[in-house]
Amino acid sequence: MIPKRYTITSALPYANGPLHIGHIAGAYLPADLYVRYLRMRGRDVVYICGSDEHGAAITLRAKKEGVTPQSIIDTYHKQIKDAFEEFGISFDIYHRTSEPLHHKTSQGFFKVLHEKGEFEEKTIEQYYDEEYNQFLADRYITGECPVCHYESAYGDQCENCGTSLSPTELINPISTLSGKAPILKSTTHWYLPLDKYQPWLEEWLLEGKKGVWKNNVYGQCSSWLKEGLKPRSMTRDLDWGVDVPLEDAEGKKLYVWMDAPIGYISATKQWAEDNDKDWEQYWKEQENPEENSRLIHFIGKDNIVFHCIIFPSILRAHGDYILPENVPANEFLNLEGDKMSTSRNYAVWLHEYLEDFPGKQDVLRYALCSIMPENKDADFTWKDFQARNNNELAAILGNFVNRVVVLTNKYFEGMVPELGKPPASAIAAYQQFQGHVGKMEEALENFRFRDAQAEFMNMARVGNKYLTDEEPWKKWKTDPDAVKPILWSCLEMIAAIGTAAKIFLPNTSQKIFDLLQIDGSELDWENLAGKREKLLVPPGHTIKTGKGLPVLFEQIPDEVIEIQLEKLKNAGKTTEVNLEPLKDEISFDDFQKMDIRIGTILEAEKVKKTKKLLKFKVDTGLDVRTIVSGVAEHFEPEDMIGKQVTVLANLAPRKIRGVESQGMILFAEDPDGKLHRLNPEDEIQPGSVVN
Ligand code: MF3
Ligand code: ZN
Repeated sequence: MIPKRYTITSALPYANGPLHIGHIAGAYLPADLYVRYLRMRGRDVVYICGSDEHGAAITLRAKKEGVTPQSIIDTYHKQIKDAFEEFGISFDIYHRTSEPLHHKTSQGFFKVLHEKGEFEEKTIEQYYDEEYNQFLADRYITGECPVCHYESAYGDQCENCGTSLSPTELINPISTLSGKAPILKSTTHWYLPLDKYQPWLEEWLLEGKKGVWKNNVYGQCSSWLKEGLKPRSMTRDLDWGVDVPLEDAEGKKLYVWMDAPIGYISATKQWAEDNDKDWEQYWKEQENPEENSRLIHFIGKDNIVFHCIIFPSILRAHGDYILPENVPANEFLNLEGDKMSTSRNYAVWLHEYLEDFPGKQDVLRYALCSIMPENKDADFTWKDFQARNNNELAAILGNFVNRVVVLTNKYFEGMVPELGKPPASAIAAYQQFQGHVGKMEEALENFRFRDAQAEFMNMARVGNKYLTDEEPWKKWKTDPDAVKPILWSCLEMIAAIGTAAKIFLPNTSQKIFDLLQIDGSELDWENLAGKREKLLVPPGHTIKTGKGLPVLFEQIPDEVIEIQLEKLKNAGKTTEVNLEPLKDEISFDDFQKMDIRIGTILEAEKVKKTKKLLKFKVDTGLDVRTIVSGVAEHFEPEDMIGKQVTVLANLAPRKIRGVESQGMILFAEDPDGKLHRLNPEDEIQPGSVVN
């Protein structure tokens, strides 16, 4: 049965850093493909997303950068939103959870549950950081996982084994704020009694979704349920987030997973207001259940428990809402065999890709869809990216379209030839072509996007092969009339490919329609599936003519790929940095004893018979003195003359290889052991004091 409406969501990304291709392949590209497909079929769809701007992910980032959480979310919300837009993820709205409308909506939800008596109020002992005067939940606390003994499990979850934890279960807990062991202190919170919902979840999910949800999703859910659910606190002691809307809850905020998924609803409200729609049709139970919208969440596997167990429980506890029909979560995407990591800067960042590969959005879409981690983790490599472009997009799709357009120009001055009586080979090719359309449809309906895209490419393969087999360039000399139906069928296939490309390669779709000089905006699934009488490119119509017809895909040469691989090597490196440990604490007086000045080097030469030593004459402002430094392997003497340096001026003189050195020039040594001069930004008076 085709539902009346679809409510499609992609996980709200935390506005605490840029997006990388793992995010895209996980929760955004599949949803975008699905939504574009539904729209083409004329279904009523709303596609929702926005920034998740609360939770420890944001406040910890702010602390790390020494700025306010507000400035973090403003920066990254904009960056993320812009990158999505340029990449072409076709949200109907990209909202944000810091909007007042969202605070109101999530508070309203909480109040309803509270009034219905759904929460259990409990006073418990919780970890507390005395130095920061803050309770420690979620990512504010780390320690050893009691299950797999991974050392840096978070207070809410072990990222290594996926177990859901509470902070008191961690072995040797440590505050991520102060780095110290926390104390226990009592506090009151509102708990969602998931244990009480367990029987309902077993029925709705374990029975109801068996064989319907993807195995990887269903499997994770059933193991959660097998373990037995525990009540989960829906509030936090924090100063950033949505206020708990109760009298006696001063200083308490909603747990981020109580507020963020409701962000889907607030975003829909905003979209409805902007577009004169009724948001309730997309979220609430309708009188006639057949008219309910179909709710589908696209997420990565780390979000499964929240979208399959916790959020549905919240929706059901409220009572007025529809429940997710499906949650086609993806697994993780690795990069060149390694886990992507924001902290190590080891990733392909979307905004950087868009800068490095302008106009090549479709190539990344295609490459990511080809390896989408639908059922298990997958690996992105730049070599594969290059091969997908060169051997598939360019060599099959691009080549087919280009040859047909060029031949039509050459033989018929760009005019679509008469079809005449189609030869058997044309009919056979077209049937084969439609076979792939059918398989593509089936795959799309069932969230199998890799297969769907493979069928899309098969459509081009059929066309390309047909053209090659028919050899119109030979027939042109012997039987020019026979060329007409060949090129006509190819043009008709290309128009259908352009239509399907609206789903997979939206920019390319535009280019194809431009080459064919047809308005593709109205073409839909029925056209694609050959179910309409009307031809897509009628005989007599003129396609694009003239010299320099655009090619759809250029080859990507090795050099371009090398640059990207090099970039990753450098990113990886910062991970293995071995920094000197911090020295023992000194007093301010100790520090004050040092007299550090800016000096200018007047002369520099090698100390004879040594490999490492340079002898400098330095103008310290106070005097001109000799200083010997072991830096000959790092600097050429002539490069140092005239340069300013930082000098420890009151270091006791000492003899080095027979030369008295009167002070010390300071250098910075990077983790690779390379030395760098420390000079003022602009040249300044020698003798200026450094303190
Ligand atoms: N911000 C979360 C993450 O990146 C996802 C939130 S999805 C929502 O893991 F449902 F809460 F919105
Ligand atoms: Zn673990």
